[in-house]
Amino acid sequence: MASETPEATGALVIFGISGDLARKMTFRALYRLERRGRLSCPVIGVAMDDWTEDQLRAHARSAVEGEEPRFSQRVFGRLAQRLSYVKGDFNDPQTYARLSERLGQVSKPLYYLEIPPSLFGMVVSHLADAGLIRDSRVMVEKPFGHDLASARELDRQLHEVLNEEQILRIDHFLGKEPVMDLQFLRFANDILEPVWNRDHVSSVQITMAEDFGVEDRGGFYDAVGAIRDVIQNHLMQVLALVAMEPPAGASADDLRNKKADVFRAMPQADPDHCVRGQYVGYRKVPGVDSHSSTETYAAMRLAIDNWRWAGVPFFIRAGKGMAERVTEVRILFRHPPHLAFLGRGAQAEPNQVVLRIDPDPGLRIVLNSKGSEGRISQPVHLDLSFAEEVGRPAEPYERLIDDALRGDHRLFTREDTVEETWRIVQPLLDPKGPVMEYQKGSWGPAEAALLVRGHPAWHEPWMAAIPSQAHGPKTPRRRR
Ligand code: BG6
Repeated sequence: MASETPEATGALVIFGISGDLARKMTFRALYRLERRGRLSCPVIGVAMDDWTEDQLRAHARSAVEGEEPRFSQRVFGRLAQRLSYVKGDFNDPQTYARLSERLGQVSKPLYYLEIPPSLFGMVVSHLADAGLIRDSRVMVEKPFGHDLASARELDRQLHEVLNEEQILRIDHFLGKEPVMDLQFLRFANDILEPVWNRDHVSSVQITMAEDFGVEDRGGFYDAVGAIRDVIQNHLMQVLALVAMEPPAGASADDLRNKKADVFRAMPQADPDHCVRGQYVGYRKVPGVDSHSSTETYAAMRLAIDNWRWAGVPFFIRAGKGMAERVTEVRILFRHPPHLAFLGRGAQAEPNQVVLRIDPDPGLRIVLNSKGSEGRISQPVHLDLSFAEEVGRPAEPYERLIDDALRGDHRLFTREDTVEETWRIVQPLLDPKGPVMEYQKGSWGPAEAALLVRGHPAWHEPWMAAIPSQAHGPKTPRRRR
């Protein structure tokens, strides 16, 4: 598959343009692409709302204006000129007839389905009946099923009219710059790659903490929970990038093959090595069942049975209502041997490499240095802010829509990896174990500490802002 070959998209068609995702993400992403001169095709919205094109433009404007600090009327004007609207029911052939008329002779349309997955099959089948699918691509949003069987069924529906090369599955974490950086950090740095394995690494901790609750998404979230919402997709994709072998080439499949190898080497998760939690007050959120046992927190131990990682536990935790908003990957290395030159009992702490994904992406290397008394060793760290060193990157949706318009599939997930990740978490979905209560603003249920027994405890994530390094040399900083 020549996914890295730029393909000119003739039109971007957004089904569900009147919805939440467009308001929160898509219009802004399109505006930013317009500003960078990356948008060159018409954008056609399709939805059921009785909107005029002026109303569509007004919605787009209000979605962008408040969010973009240096809003430019000129840039928005260019975007507004691209926008047009087709009103219609997604299950009505007339909608597709009108869309066909609007598309005219346009080639290679990109359909972006910002609609519930239960409607994907119906929409692509109508597109096919209207003769609109042949040279198109279709971009879809998670959730891709709610377990392995439903993921396969959803895929079957898409594949009735599409082949795999036409499908772009968005996992917006793959559009985050530090997540993309994982591949570069690991394989472009000879000081990291030789120690990135079971001979040197004792365990890996991946944390995704959010300092807010479910708020207005109770109805959606209660049927989903943390494992389905962010672990099966976002954090498993991050894990694959931490653990994979270097891709053999630059194509999308070169990369995705390596990620698939990681998942295929992973046994299914063991419910005895999983702790599920729910923050106190969750059951009072509108839309949540008052007896709900849905997890708003999950921590688990996973394994990768291959030559690089056998015996190294991968601990993952994700939760809402936590103390801070932070997502990080923490690689914990083995204990250095006893430091005989410092006297009896002198022991250094394991080195660590921390990749912070959110907020303020950065890299921290925890080293040991001589303590002030000269007799003990003391942890110090080297911190790097990506924004400061390499500039502010494109935002995830901006990058992913840009890639999709150009036919670059590297940052989109492939069906086999989606199914593998469902296979891995499946035993945790049903039947579910008990759910432990935790207070909002904490780091989750106390039981999660037992999961890491015999290994370094869960580390409090790296939260400190990285002080400006613009002036003066980079020096190690003391740990908080
Ligand atoms: C979404 C989940 O996929 O990712 C949300 O449905 C979660 O529950 C969000 O809050 C986190 O994304 P980000 O980019 O804000 O870290």
